Amino acid sequence: MAVKLADDKREWYKTAVFYQIWVRSFADGNHDGIGDLYGVYDKLDYIKSLGATAIWFNPLYPSPNADYGYDISDYCDINPEFGDMDQFKKVLNRAHELGMKVVMDLVVNHTSDEHPWFKESRKGGDDNPYRDYYIWRDKPNNWDSLFEGDAWEYDDVRGQYYLHLFAKKQPDLNMDNPKVREEVKNILRFWLDLGVDGFREDVINFISKKEGLPNGIGFIPVIGQMHNYKDGPHIHEYLKEFREVCDEYGAVQIGEGPMTTVDSALNYLSGRTKSMDMMFSFDHMTADCLFTEYMHRPFKLIRLKKALSRWQYKLADRAWNSLYLENHDHPRVISRYGSEKFHRASGTCLATAYMFLKGTPFIYQGQEIGMTNIRLKSIDDYVDVSSKTNYNKYHLKESVASRLHRIHLSSRDSARTPMQWDSRDNAGFSDVKPWFFVNPNYKDINVAAEEERPDGILNYYRTCVKLRAKSKTLIHGSYKEYDPENPLVYMYERNLGKESYIIICSFAKENIPFMLPKGFAGHTAKLVLTNYPRKRKTGEIGILPKKGLRLSPYEAMVIKMKRK
Ligand code: GLC
Ligand code: CA
Repeated sequence: MAVKLADDKREWYKTAVFYQIWVRSFADGNHDGIGDLYGVYDKLDYIKSLGATAIWFNPLYPSPNADYGYDISDYCDINPEFGDMDQFKKVLNRAHELGMKVVMDLVVNHTSDEHPWFKESRKGGDDNPYRDYYIWRDKPNNWDSLFEGDAWEYDDVRGQYYLHLFAKKQPDLNMDNPKVREEVKNILRFWLDLGVDGFREDVINFISKKEGLPNGIGFIPVIGQMHNYKDGPHIHEYLKEFREVCDEYGAVQIGEGPMTTVDSALNYLSGRTKSMDMMFSFDHMTADCLFTEYMHRPFKLIRLKKALSRWQYKLADRAWNSLYLENHDHPRVISRYGSEKFHRASGTCLATAYMFLKGTPFIYQGQEIGMTNIRLKSIDDYVDVSSKTNYNKYHLKESVASRLHRIHLSSRDSARTPMQWDSRDNAGFSDVKPWFFVNPNYKDINVAAEEERPDGILNYYRTCVKLRAKSKTLIHGSYKEYDPENPLVYMYERNLGKESYIIICSFAKENIPFMLPKGFAGHTAKLVLTNYPRKRKTGEIGILPKKGLRLSPYEAMVIKMKRK
């Protein structure tokens, strides 16, 4: 039995840096072209070398892979493609030995339709204990799923429709059923007893649906319906039950909240209804799109700054932020918010822009070497269910080339190409043909090549992590944005007592002048980080110039100074 820990025992997450692993594409250790836990084991030292202190694993459980692991058929085992329970324990123990925590993905809004609960539930029957594990109706409402058209699918066996907010093979669990909540608590205990340190909780703001499942109204289908299943009436009640289990172990909880607003996130993060230590928001991921990446619009720095600042200011001392620019659901950030042409400069600039915000940084596999989007030739080459639906459902009047271009910009598959380790065949990911296409730029963009580049993206990430780790100000200091209407430069300050760090990032593709805001010029300051080491020297102390700075394309810097 675990001992009850005081709340602050889990506060390790505030100083942590997470590395996120989507195992299928990370490293293949047993020569079948699929990434696995043998591969992960061999790379733990590499992860440690980044300065990461925690790992988040995307789902490792048995899954028919309709949504690559997010359709789970057994919550308490390891997908045989990835290894087995013994191998998982080896990875867990070794990670712990190296001083890294391990966080698992908890996906309980839905299961796979091949989960035994669903197989039983389909049979119906009055004394079937699984009858009400899912959401069954004689007549569907007008909801759309996020992945595959209509949110309801007729089941011949049961003679009723079941709800699936995502793919057809992902039926939604009925969280209003106390038995289902007991199952969730058992899953939590199972992994906590094994020694994992917490959970990233998938679409957790969707698990309680509005009573009676009313029709949605509104212009854009999914958005008009969402208020019927987002932040539902019992959400905090249910999450409190899960929180109590996690409290017994001091386990960290990180909620994924698609389309969550900062105000609603605060209900999960603070006060009486606090159930989460951090939330993943999508706000700042819409700087080049509307609602989903498929609805593309040109990148605007102002949109990114506004979203980041909104969360920084609102959470401030009330709650803790999670910081990310990439994960398995979004295309690569250099291709989106940076520039493939200014690859190194924009990759390091983006790192600077987000790593020093207040909160816990997450680095997604491949982000640290600047991996970019893949451009496949035909929609048949893509494997992600949502890409296929988008292609086949929207913009049908456009040419094939134009729809494919939209997929190039938006597909989640760009985040899921095999990790580029070196310049050997298959990018050193596997010694046989990988399960998915390797990005053809792997000969130049890979870990081994980056290790040889002192000024490369990889070593820059390492420097950022180190700088943050040794500074109380960068971890706990307050946030203030300057010049918010500037369309090309992001500037903010982190302050604690008399110490301040000033972060300046240019997103311009050419040289630009930048006037420092009032109160900065004439100050003595020290440059502590630059992504233009040939132009500027770190460690140099100087006076901030009255005539302003001349910034190179995607130039970023961190300056330290004293405040009165
Ligand atoms: C979350 C996951 C995503 C998955 C979806 C359905 O958004 O991050 O990968 O497809 O939930 O489980
Ligand atoms: Ca393998």
